[in-house]
Amino acid sequence: MLATVDNKKKYSIITYGCQMNFSDSEVVSSILNSNGYQSSDNYINSDLILLNTCSIREKAEITIRKKLESFKKLKKKNTNLKIGVLGCMAERLKEKFLIEEKIVDLVVGPDAYRDIPNLLEEIEIGNSAVNVILSKDETYDNIDPSRLDSNGISAFVSITRGCDNMCTFCVVPFTRGRERSRDPKSIIKEILKLKNDGYKEITLLGQNVDSYLWYGGGLKKDFKNASELQKKSSLSFSKLLNLMADNFKNMRIRFTTSNPQDMSEDVLNVMAKHKNICKHIHLPVQSGSDKILRLMNRKHTVSDYKELIGNIKKIIPDCGISHDMITGFPNENDDDHKMTLELMDYVKYDFGFMFKYSQRPGTSAYKKFDDNVPEKVKQKRLEEIIDLQQKHSFMNLKNYVGKSCEVLIEKESKKSNKYWCGRNDQNIMVVFPKKNHKPGDFVNIEINDNTSTTLIGTS
Ligand code: 5AD
Ligand code: SF4
Repeated sequence: MLATVDNKKKYSIITYGCQMNFSDSEVVSSILNSNGYQSSDNYINSDLILLNTCSIREKAEITIRKKLESFKKLKKKNTNLKIGVLGCMAERLKEKFLIEEKIVDLVVGPDAYRDIPNLLEEIEIGNSAVNVILSKDETYDNIDPSRLDSNGISAFVSITRGCDNMCTFCVVPFTRGRERSRDPKSIIKEILKLKNDGYKEITLLGQNVDSYLWYGGGLKKDFKNASELQKKSSLSFSKLLNLMADNFKNMRIRFTTSNPQDMSEDVLNVMAKHKNICKHIHLPVQSGSDKILRLMNRKHTVSDYKELIGNIKKIIPDCGISHDMITGFPNENDDDHKMTLELMDYVKYDFGFMFKYSQRPGTSAYKKFDDNVPEKVKQKRLEEIIDLQQKHSFMNLKNYVGKSCEVLIEKESKKSNKYWCGRNDQNIMVVFPKKNHKPGDFVNIEINDNTSTTLIGTS
């Protein structure tokens, strides 16, 4: 038997990777809480440790394996301790995990979390416990997530799962399955609960939110077979966004991640129309070279992307724009890299997440292309794009100095307990003296200084 405290077994979830994983951990926590488990902040004393894992780059997997290695001692001390692996690595490696990492008792893929209580019972009677079945319709829509590590002010609300885009470098379509959307009624119910609990900001979450499509449930790719009635009454992302902004006028609404090929002008118009939709778009481009975009199976060209950026700036002039970029993709030469730098110069992003290409087993880039850009070259190119981004970020943030912006206070600044921090509409962190304000307040801040990542001001 697992040890008990107050008759409840204690569990800890350690989450790696993207916001979707953090959101999923809250679903898992809710499932465990309603099945007689109790969450613990300290995994050292837990009966069950769950690692919600990420496979996006090899480095992420290495970090997780090291963490698992560190549990060996714990398991020797506490022979009742059970260890589970959830998320993308569980889905990618499946049963192999139990063999490769002998200390793992439980392997559960992203669509099988409802089965965790049954799987835990299986472990108790000495059976192996693996469920990595991907689903056509699972969206966990009737589960009220238990907010973990929450500031009580902003929360993620997942609206789609999976991805159908099949970018050649990306493991996500294999680990998270096909794309499906969540019932808008359950989205509203979740946000209503957050509002009643005092939350002030929600971020609608999905691998590709702009491709949200509700037609009564089921895979996005099966929409073509839907009935005429279903098609007529279907809800697109722009309609969903409009609905949420109308229903929750006193809450800030954000969304991520957008995909250039799916972002419609309708979405931009809805953003422009509603004051409570934050003016920030995270718009990964991955490369500034058409040749590389083709090899990546991105469904947009550089010129499509520039046109979209032009539309954003026209419809929402004060919109913050951020990006994801991969450097050193197979066959990327100096000219392709130069084109990436040129695109960055053209857009002048506010911030970005930049990565060296990491070959992922099972993806079509892994099957079709040699990972032929030497590590040193990848590193040098990465440093160049990071330097350029820092220059742009500093320049863009400098433009705020002398102006004022509305900030939602989230928490105490890490640097000083005399300062609050929160984000402005454009998702830029702002730090300012506390005065009489408190977390959850919306305050107008006069900006008087900046770094490349933070605005500094006073109310
Ligand atoms: N190598 C490097 N970066 C990757 N990403 C996705 N797959 C890979 C990979 N194989 C990056 C992309 C994506 C972000 C979430 O992670 O930029 O937008
Ligand atoms: Fe991966 Fe491309 Fe889907 Fe993003 S859009 S999750 S990069 S396949």
